[in-house]
Amino acid sequence: MPSSGRRPPLRVLVLGGTGFVSGAVAREAVARGHDVTCVARGTGTSLPEGARLLRTDRNAPEALAALREARFDAAVETATLALPWVREALRAVTAAHWTFISSISVYADTLTPGQTARSGRLRPALPDDTTCYDPTRDAEPSQARYGGVKLACEQLFREATEDRALLVRPGLVVGPGDDVSPFGYWPLRMARGGPAVTPPAATGDGIPLPAQCIDVRDLAAWIVDRAEAGTSGTFDAAGPPVHLSSLLQEIADAVGHPTLELVPVPEETLLRAGAVPWTGPGSVPLWPPRILHGALSRDVSASFDAGLRVRSVAETAEAVLRDRLERAPAKPPVAGMSPVAEAALLREIGY
Ligand SMILES: NC(=O)c1ccc[n+]([C@@H]2O[C@H](COP(=O)([O-])OP(=O)(O)OC[C@H]3O[C@@H](n4cnc5c(N)ncnc54)[C@H](OP(=O)(O)O)[C@@H]3O)[C@@H](O)[C@H]2O)c1
Repeated sequence: MPSSGRRPPLRVLVLGGTGFVSGAVAREAVARGHDVTCVARGTGTSLPEGARLLRTDRNAPEALAALREARFDAAVETATLALPWVREALRAVTAAHWTFISSISVYADTLTPGQTARSGRLRPALPDDTTCYDPTRDAEPSQARYGGVKLACEQLFREATEDRALLVRPGLVVGPGDDVSPFGYWPLRMARGGPAVTPPAATGDGIPLPAQCIDVRDLAAWIVDRAEAGTSGTFDAAGPPVHLSSLLQEIADAVGHPTLELVPVPEETLLRAGAVPWTGPGSVPLWPPRILHGALSRDVSASFDAGLRVRSVAETAEAVLRDRLERAPAKPPVAGMSPVAEAALLREIGY
């Protein structure tokens, strides 16, 4: 019989599936016609239409018992910082292919540009960490702990699957649905128009400021592609490294109000004015401290060779703006300067 060329649907398990990254993975798998089961408490977040939810609290004993008899073609574990969840998932779930969403926080050297998933020096793994981090309750973990637990999880996957798992280490993930990344500030700020304080193009000693991120939809598409193909290995997941000034210009060109004027301010002036690098209240979002220059300049050509494709920053910016205006028009972004602080800084530099 001639083949129709269409792949039969896979039984896909997403451990998570109702959050930002995990929801995008579940949505992508549903969109491709796969039979998708998500595992989450279902607390106030939305389940992608067409997926089913196994409602469970993974902190409870035997949380995944209901999955013991099931067989999946592909399973994606999205646990953020919970080694016990990963141990339990590998015990309870039978899947032909596993993906674990790790993080570039596994790398010890965040300063040196151009590192690859092969060459990057790793932090010490923390295989004895037994606590489960809950972002709604706990203070943000240190990078050493976050990266160390992710590495310990990766190790469990390597052992349990005899190196046949796909271990994906995303950098900064952005896009519609994101409420926490520093990227989200810029489309809104640029759409407001007027003079906008930005980081300078380069440090005082002439090093261009780097930027690197990935749209959650591209990350999800790649993860589902690789699960369909049964790919194994360890990959970074990030767009190509670019200069921050080009990325900001691209956002401005895509969504900037006609009155928008980008005003690059030297790093020393920003610091003197009390502006905070990278993220958080009072920050100039995405302005990277020197220690992050390497983490934002990773060589991800191996991931592109393995099929990763990314959309333009402009497309992401448009989607982020639409999403923010639809979901939470009045909610200020978690990162960035207030309009009052920005106006004061602009006055200080003569605007
Ligand atoms: N965002 C980034 O920039 C970034 C960068 C690098 C790596 N990553 C990694 O990407 C992964 C996904 O990140 P994310 O922040 O977007 O997470 P997410 O998709 O929001 O996933 C968290 C999921 O876990 C579920 N969950 C939380 N507590 C639970 C519990 N006690 N029992 C059962 N389910 C529970 C949540 O659903 P309920 O609340 O409904 O239970 C949600 O579906 C993480 O591993 C993260 O480390 C993210």
